[in-house]
Amino acid sequence: MQGRWMGRCPDCGTWDALEAHREGAGEKSGGPQRGIAEAWAAVSDGGADLAGGGMGMSGAVPIGEVEASESTPRIGTGLPELDRVLGGPAGGQGLVRGSAVLVGGPPGIGKSTLLLQAAAGIARGGTRVLYVSSEESAAQVRARAERLGALGGRAGDLYLLADTNLGRIVEQARRVTPGVLVVDSVQMVHKAELPATPGSVTQLRRCCADLAYLAKLSGMAVVLVGHVTKDDQLAGPRLLEHLVDAVLRFEGDRQHAHRIVRAAKNRYGATQEIGLFEMTAGGLRDLPGGVVVGTGGGGRPGSVVCPVLTGTRCVMVEVQALTATGFVGAAKRKCSGIDANRLAMLIAVLEQHAEVRLADRDVFASAVGGLRVIDPGADLALLLAVAGAQLRRGLGSGTAVVGEVGLGGEIRPVAGLEQRVAEAARLGYKRVVVPRQRRERSEVEAVEVASVARAMEELG
Ligand code: TYD
Ligand code: MG
Repeated sequence: MQGRWMGRCPDCGTWDALEAHREGAGEKSGGPQRGIAEAWAAVSDGGADLAGGGMGMSGAVPIGEVEASESTPRIGTGLPELDRVLGGPAGGQGLVRGSAVLVGGPPGIGKSTLLLQAAAGIARGGTRVLYVSSEESAAQVRARAERLGALGGRAGDLYLLADTNLGRIVEQARRVTPGVLVVDSVQMVHKAELPATPGSVTQLRRCCADLAYLAKLSGMAVVLVGHVTKDDQLAGPRLLEHLVDAVLRFEGDRQHAHRIVRAAKNRYGATQEIGLFEMTAGGLRDLPGGVVVGTGGGGRPGSVVCPVLTGTRCVMVEVQALTATGFVGAAKRKCSGIDANRLAMLIAVLEQHAEVRLADRDVFASAVGGLRVIDPGADLALLLAVAGAQLRRGLGSGTAVVGEVGLGGEIRPVAGLEQRVAEAARLGYKRVVVPRQRRERSEVEAVEVASVARAMEELG
């Protein structure tokens, strides 16, 4: 809360998102969640039981007297790739009871598909689920579930509700007493008592805050689906991130079948973790084990494959570059899935340490398949892709590249080199270009390079 008017939210940097809030005006004093607490307090016995599994909001106690509660088992979704992103000990991963999880992604990427499959999986595992659709009718959701083959097993534990009214959703949750509540999407849900129009930021925030509070209060895991726009900033979910325990981003290139679930925030797990799926006619399919995201080419000029570490995973990613005629002083540098600052730095290193002239060349670079590469270990692959594109020289096919590039043109060690080399070997790569650093012997030929100049010799 701010004591004065501010145009920009100091937490999330969003403009015009703060609202005037007068205690006692428009809502009963006692805080915004009072309404939810009352609604839930009018609960039958079943609900009261559930409340015991929540956060136990019972007043202040000395820390030593607080029961250590990490023992509560998580709820598996039947999708191992999703469970791993949600976090937890090996073998016991999944949703934490009483937590609120926001799943964001652009429209059409497959959020509803993912959550419906997860809901069915949770029900099969014996936990009751209430799937609230605020966008589609119950019949549409059922038809989709049938197409996904999600109605086998204990499908009776999967409840559907098509509603947009928060009050009625809470009431139905109280009646059904599910272990997991899915709201798809939270943008369409509104609270009747609020004067703001449905779909407004005020509605969205209040509904999200209420549902997150409901999770704590009831012990249900609440999963909220939110749409984000392509640039990730404008739409609501950014405002919601500090209201929930975990934020998962569902990403991918709609032109490709690969889908990536990434934890952007996770109070109950690591954030670097990703889950990989493939969108098929029968819904999302887990892609365990590393895959080459992209065509797997790598041999052509301007295309290099890198074993990228993300969380505990190693994924082979193809990075591509293209150079074209531009103008000195106004040359374009565009990238997708790759950090623009990193690309600019690598271009400078190429100019300075490898005598590749790019000042009057437009440079385009991308990570194929929609994966966002933030691993510095992908530097050298990107550098060789740009140099190869410019010089029209490629690496031999069957070669993967890993290494961080320093400003002095040196190739620096990377984390998890063994895992990366092993993954490349497992997927049939014959040679791996690596930094000079301590490592175990491997089955593939490892070519150590200490400098950019030396790495450039690999371009045939
Ligand atoms: P959807 O889950 O509705 O996306 P979101 O909820 O994020 O808006 O799915 C979007 C796309 O997924 C849709 O264009 C069709 C495709 N799709 C499949 O390819 N296979 C399937 O089995 C399903 C259900 C959807
Ligand atoms: Mg949807």
